[in-house]
Amino acid sequence: MEFAVVQSPWSQVSADWVVVPFSDPVVWSDPLKSLDTALGGILARLDAAGELPTKLGALLALRGLTGASPRVLLVGLGTVATTTVATIDRALMSALRAITDKPNLRVAVVVPAQDLGAISVGDFVAATLQAGHLAGVGQDLYKTERGRHPLAALTVVTSNAVTPEIQSAATRGDILGDAINLTRDLVNRPPAEMTPVAFAARATQLAKTHGIDCEVWDQPRLVQERMRSMLAVAQGSPQPPRMVRLNYRGGGTDQPTIALVGKGVTFDSGGLSLKPTDSMLTMKCDMAGAATVLGAMVAIARLKLPVNVVALMGLVENMIGGNAFKLGDILTARNGVTIEVLNTDAEGRLVLADVLSYAVDLGVDRIVDLATLTGACVVALGEDVAGAMANDQPWCDQVLTAAKATGENLWQLPMFDFYDDLIKGDIGDIKNTGGRWGGAISAAKFLQRFVGGKPWVHLDIAGPAFASSTKPHREAGATGAYVRTLVELMQRTVVK
Ligand code: BES
Ligand code: MN
Ligand code: ZN
Repeated sequence: MEFAVVQSPWSQVSADWVVVPFSDPVVWSDPLKSLDTALGGILARLDAAGELPTKLGALLALRGLTGASPRVLLVGLGTVATTTVATIDRALMSALRAITDKPNLRVAVVVPAQDLGAISVGDFVAATLQAGHLAGVGQDLYKTERGRHPLAALTVVTSNAVTPEIQSAATRGDILGDAINLTRDLVNRPPAEMTPVAFAARATQLAKTHGIDCEVWDQPRLVQERMRSMLAVAQGSPQPPRMVRLNYRGGGTDQPTIALVGKGVTFDSGGLSLKPTDSMLTMKCDMAGAATVLGAMVAIARLKLPVNVVALMGLVENMIGGNAFKLGDILTARNGVTIEVLNTDAEGRLVLADVLSYAVDLGVDRIVDLATLTGACVVALGEDVAGAMANDQPWCDQVLTAAKATGENLWQLPMFDFYDDLIKGDIGDIKNTGGRWGGAISAAKFLQRFVGGKPWVHLDIAGPAFASSTKPHREAGATGAYVRTLVELMQRTVVK
């Protein structure tokens, strides 16, 4: 997608569609005023009749126009007082998704002249570029005729001077949109295609393209590295496991190293504790943590952020078979902790156990992990909110603040000491399930045994990583959620 930010009156812009966002109450200055004049006063008449689409995400398409552009799409941003990054995203996504059912479109989006409250012009421009990327790609990767089409060109039109800040906001939105689409693509690919080996190959190729240091561990290396908890999960599958480490050092040697750790179960059948069909149906999404980490790493490298980041992705398939790990098995993790397997479907924590231990061994300063870890978290918070669990409140606050700034929904769950009792083992140190209640937290308590006391935040993204239904502002399937939060976190870590 080509893009540009230009200072120009809207009426001189030639495009297949001109998208005109406006807030409630309508302010009759340009670009709306000149648009109204050019359209023979129809906007004022619609306004008088109360028929302008002022509500958030409401649309009104005008076609067959005689100016430089034949079509105008009005989109409501809602009231200024309630405007946030999330509402801007939603409105722009609704508008652009309404037109990207056609290929090769050249689209112009007009920056509103009125004050958008909490939102700067830069924020608006970045959101526009991001939405331009996201709206043009759907989950129908294997349809003979795709339902969505990438934009050929996106022009952001403003009446103000295009400052270097505005230009860099556009570049930022462009890079983020691309990165989120990368995560979505990885997650939306069918499980027979997106195996641990295929994921690792894609990561290797991306690392090469973007100049990131990359190492892939194959099965013998994982054995040599004593990743026995992770290997137990992989045992039932003919697909060999992999661990990918990306190393990006944009910061100085005196600056901290942050580890981003992702669960990469490329398919979760549940193992011998087999899932029923309905629960298994979407389990290609169980590598979303790893895909989010990879998407964020590519964005961090392309933005050349002055931070040091190590990304670790544990990639396995959880399957049944004669070789599969069993209920009652005792696993010795990399850090020596012994684990009783009570349920082979609680496999994500077994993968993360060894990968987190390795992060600690690398001597990283702080850790964030992302995992589609528990159905319990979806029960607690719903499909659109991730749970945050941590052992260090200042680090958790930084992650929550980053999420808030990007408009992504994140909510902290408690980590009271008494939850530790839920996972106490009878035969080994700990067991891999904590019973029926508080399942998201007992899973986090399990992970905490492998972070060696380092400041750590666990994000359970089981709900928001994969959407069950299409809405006007977003397609069903992989969402790419929390790529933005991770990038924002790294940007803020820099400033501190
Ligand atoms: N991958 C699932 C969690 C999940 C559920 C992700 C729904 C996305 C949507 C995870 O491996 C799992 O099966 N967890 C079990 C844990 C239980 C056996 C303790 C669960 O949530 O039921
Ligand atoms: Mn599972
Ligand atoms: Zn899983």
